[in-house]
Amino acid sequence: MPQPTDAVLSELHFNKLQAIIHDKTGITIADGRSTMLVSRLKGRLRELGLSDYKAYIAKVTSDPDEMQELINRVTTNKTYFYRTPRIWEHFRDDAVPQFLTKKAGRAMRVWSAAASTGEEAHTIGILLEQVRRSEPGFNYSVLGTDVSARVLKKAETGNYEGAAFAQFQKDAPDLFAEFMKCDDAGQVQISPEIRTRIKFKLHNLQKRLSGVSPFDVVFLRNVLIYFTNEDQENILRHVHALMPSDGVLYIGESETLSRLNTPFEIIGPMIYRPVAGARRTQA
Ligand SMILES: C[S@@+](CC[C@H](N)C(=O)[O-])C[C@H]1O[C@@H](n2cnc3c(N)ncnc32)[C@H](O)[C@@H]1O
Repeated sequence: MPQPTDAVLSELHFNKLQAIIHDKTGITIADGRSTMLVSRLKGRLRELGLSDYKAYIAKVTSDPDEMQELINRVTTNKTYFYRTPRIWEHFRDDAVPQFLTKKAGRAMRVWSAAASTGEEAHTIGILLEQVRRSEPGFNYSVLGTDVSARVLKKAETGNYEGAAFAQFQKDAPDLFAEFMKCDDAGQVQISPEIRTRIKFKLHNLQKRLSGVSPFDVVFLRNVLIYFTNEDQENILRHVHALMPSDGVLYIGESETLSRLNTPFEIIGPMIYRPVAGARRTQA
């Protein structure tokens, strides 16, 4: 019997896993990326004591916890604080002041829609906490969602190590010093006033997020690249349905909506607003 680590992923089983992953996450694993898939899954086969992918697929499709584990392993979760500084400058200098002018009196609502381990949601929190301290009456809430349960568990701790914040510490030393408390082991903890305003929730972007009020600003960054054009359009219709017409949408540096049919118009590189009057999707 072959050792688990030597299990060969046949074309048939690669195609089955491709279909399962697409169905559960929308992520399209390109043909020819079977080596990548094997490198992400072989450790799991070993842990489960399974010697082939046929048995692994049977396990995944009959056990929801194992399906979640597959999702955790195939998602790419790279993220860090203050990623793409120009977006944060727009958020601080344009999006927030616009909100303050028009909507003073209610809390600003922001969605980090592919939150990973929470660095983006906490960067939002840090910038908004700074506003809250200087603007009487201002308040905010941040929702971070992701399809991977593993990264959300880490996000909920609000604890970070060096690589996640090194760039932030360089780019925005004052913010870092004000809101992140370093311990002797070199870990930082986000301040409690911020953490109480941030919630994390498991959510698959392919579906419409239900039971929430509209979001003034949505960060949908560095996730669209994993989807087909059709899946991106579907996701963007769901996002549009949860935004007021003066909302702001941010996407990632290597992403664009220009070749897609979406209800958003560009207002700057990586920055969009909902098209007024575009038809809203049903829940
Ligand atoms: C590369 S990270 C981006 C994190 C952060 N937005 C940033 O820009 O730094 C992409 C995240 O998208 C998540 N993701 C992938 N497919 C998803 C889906 N269908 N629904 C929700 N999140 C998804 C992954 O789990 C991963 O944590």
